[in-house]
Amino acid sequence: MTAPTAGEDLGAWQRELRARFPIVTGHPELAYLDSAATAQKPQAVLDAVQTYLTTSNANSARGTYTWANRTTELVERTRERVARFLGDPGSGGSVVHFTGGTTEGLRTIARDWLPGFLRDGDEIVVPDADHQANIVPWLEAQRQLAREGVRVRVVPMPYQSGSGDYDHRALAERAGPRTRFVATTHVHHVYGGDMNVQRIRRAVGPDAVICLDAAQSVGHLPVSVAELDVDFVVFSGHKALALPGSGAVWARQARGPAFVPGGWSGTPNTVGIASLEAALDWLDAAGVDRIERWTADLASRLTDGLRRLDAYEILGCPLSLAADAPVQRRQGIVSLRHHAIDSGDLGFILFSHGFMVRSDHHCQGDAGEKTGSVRVSLHVYNTAEEIDRLLSVLASLG
Ligand code: ALA
Repeated sequence: MTAPTAGEDLGAWQRELRARFPIVTGHPELAYLDSAATAQKPQAVLDAVQTYLTTSNANSARGTYTWANRTTELVERTRERVARFLGDPGSGGSVVHFTGGTTEGLRTIARDWLPGFLRDGDEIVVPDADHQANIVPWLEAQRQLAREGVRVRVVPMPYQSGSGDYDHRALAERAGPRTRFVATTHVHHVYGGDMNVQRIRRAVGPDAVICLDAAQSVGHLPVSVAELDVDFVVFSGHKALALPGSGAVWARQARGPAFVPGGWSGTPNTVGIASLEAALDWLDAAGVDRIERWTADLASRLTDGLRRLDAYEILGCPLSLAADAPVQRRQGIVSLRHHAIDSGDLGFILFSHGFMVRSDHHCQGDAGEKTGSVRVSLHVYNTAEEIDRLLSVLASLG
């Protein structure tokens, strides 16, 4: 895959890819702008599901007949596929565990791994203006440990006001030698910013375990565990073009005890795993770096247009900076409010014009926004024409 070059025209590339999403081409009157909630599926993923169910469907790691063997191979192959997709150099020591999605993955780490890692007097950093799924499990683990007489202090992740980014300088001041675990997010699900994870490693030092909620980044921009010095990466298949109920935890296994999910695992979601393998193949062939550029450019087009409309507030960083900007960089998520129209009502108005957006609190933690917003979130099938139409409807509302 060649990296996109500056100024490369992605129009023809995108038109070809958009045509591969039957639900999108089948509804030209609608614009799906809710990919942070779940993404649409290309034909290749639908085909992979159909092929698996009509040629190989069986349980994995149990039978000795052909379909069972094929299913076992699929599961093991997809484990390696996930690791490769995440830039794992494959030098050993890491594991991939399939889950139902990000929420289940984060919970599994909090329930089955974190208690064995922490000692009395340790500290954990919790991002309490991020998604609830990346807050609640850590607080539950703290309460569970307290019942066992192990006191763990929760350090709230500091945020910069105005940009939605973490305040990495304040984090360095708050983090001490007992800060052993940091829960973080790659791309914020409301503010849309890339949270500059490399700066977290610099702030907390080489020994702390960093757990990355990559729900909004896997499939949207390159995610490389070789570059991001993190210990866990957790994501959902359904936001990366695969089926709901699929997802994975990647664990590095170097800075703490081995990650071994507890209990009987039961039958894995083999159909979801088949869809995940196809989705990752599709994304690699499309070029995730191009997808990032396409969606970030559309987000820029939207924020540029919104800044010309007095009635709207953009949450987080008001600017969508270019991909090479030295400061907070927005990915394909823009949340906004109208100064007079309730966000729930705005969502209904937009749907009456064919736009599908999310309008509520987006499951953000208590330190986040106090009122709801309309969130526009993008993937490779979205177009500049959709953004321009959306801006013209927003402008017409005064
Ligand atoms: N976590 C998904 C979202 O932010 C559902 O919309």
